[in-house]
Amino acid sequence: MVTNRTFTMLKPDSVEKGHIGSILEKITASGFRIVAMKITQMTKADAEAFYEIHKERPFFGELVEYMTRGPIVAAILEKENAVEDFRTLVGATNPEEAAEGTIRKLYAASIGENAVHGSDSNDNAAIECAFHFSGREQF
Ligand code: RTP
Ligand code: MG
Repeated sequence: MVTNRTFTMLKPDSVEKGHIGSILEKITASGFRIVAMKITQMTKADAEAFYEIHKERPFFGELVEYMTRGPIVAAILEKENAVEDFRTLVGATNPEEAAEGTIRKLYAASIGENAVHGSDSNDNAAIECAFHFSGREQF
């Protein structure tokens, strides 16, 4: 089951700009089933823990500030080959390098504020799903 699931966040910029509906439509039209979803806001401690892997990077402070400044939509998505296929749908980290039709090409403003998150491996998908959702919230 876990290998067919990935975790996503519609980041604060997507919520602020009113892009929740458009992005979710693109995700479901691309064959992903939403098996868990909520609007939530990460605390500083949450964001520091979630992006711990980047804590030595120069952009870490900005990243934490950005990810905590407003609500996000957190969701778990199911599809065959979910992690890789969702990364393809999301597009490159820098929207200037993102392929046509990808979520970041359509909705991201910059490398720092890039609209959505997608897990980068099956192991991280499982960790990130558990970070935001209990078993009872996953369907
Ligand atoms: P994500 O984890 O959010 O899905 O993004 P990603 O894999 O494409 O990129 P990653 O390298 O994991 O970076 C995490 C997030 O940090 C911000 N970032 N800012 N200013 C910069 O140079 C920079 N580089 C990365 C972005 O919000 C990126 O998505
Ligand atoms: Mg990443």
